[in-house]
Amino acid sequence: MVVANQKGGVGKTTTTVNLAASLALHGARVLVIDLDPQGNASTALGIDHHAEVPSIYDVLVDSRPLSDVVQPVMDVEGLFCAPATIDLAGAEIELVSLVARESRLQRAIQAYEQPLDYILIDCPPSLGLLTVNAMVAGAEVLIPIQCEYYALEGLGQLLRNVDLVRGHLNPALHVSTILLTMYDGRTRLASQVADEVRTHFAEEVLRTSIPRSVRISEAPSYGQTVLTYDPGSSGALSYLEAAREIALRGAAVHYDPQNAHGGHAPVGHAPVGHQNNQRSMSEGIQ
Ligand SMILES: Nc1ncnc2c1ncn2[C@@H]1O[C@H](COP(=O)(O)OP(=O)(O)O)[C@@H](O)[C@H]1O
Ligand SMILES: [Mg+2]
Repeated sequence: MVVANQKGGVGKTTTTVNLAASLALHGARVLVIDLDPQGNASTALGIDHHAEVPSIYDVLVDSRPLSDVVQPVMDVEGLFCAPATIDLAGAEIELVSLVARESRLQRAIQAYEQPLDYILIDCPPSLGLLTVNAMVAGAEVLIPIQCEYYALEGLGQLLRNVDLVRGHLNPALHVSTILLTMYDGRTRLASQVADEVRTHFAEEVLRTSIPRSVRISEAPSYGQTVLTYDPGSSGALSYLEAAREIALRGAAVHYDPQNAHGGHAPVGHAPVGHQNNQRSMSEGIQ
């Protein structure tokens, strides 16, 4: 699952680590791939990522096996992380001259032999080669949308990029999930943005939205997800609930033989609205 939005600060990293921890706490084996040179997902999972640590840069640029860089996350059983170091800042340029530059992450994941139920990829705030690598490797895209003014700006461009990658490099890719983040129910703006997103993406938006919560924003400074930092907080409970929605949709594909979409998704869940809605989604939003 590719967690992408070229806007910064919308909750990509927060969503990646907390959804991953929620899924792992439910018994799934989950790998977080940190694809942002800032390494925020690595920090939030308590994974050392100073410059000498073997990292996803070595995988992408030097073809090092993913198993060399994956580390277990201490507090959460079944949760693993491929960290990003500052080296990754140069990868966007270094990748340009390499063969198969768009599919290096895909190849690394295909060669990874440990059993996993989910892989979540935390993308940088851009649509460059790192994000393209994530989209080529992934089966589905999760877009976190912050319930603020300008929330939908840039979304059309993101959807067009997903279309391009699907058309040329990864026919399975689709936007499966949209998650509303930093929702503040007291403001009319937040509910207006939420209504607009739900109108455009009726199928993809999770019923659960993530509230604005101090506990969520505090957790990374302790190298923890909110699930271990404050398990009873509203933020932790909402990420658990969002993860449950995602897992149940996946279960519907695996266990419902009547599901007509089942054959299209290589892993994960049904391509919700993918065939019919994609065009109107791209057209509706600038
Ligand atoms: N639900 C939330 N409530 C409060 N703060 C949040 C919430 N989600 C994210 N944040 C904070 O907002 C900032 C941006 O979030 P982050 O996940 O790093 O975004 P991105 O990865 O898209 O740049 C961080 O400081 C994070 O702690
Ligand atoms: Mg981030």
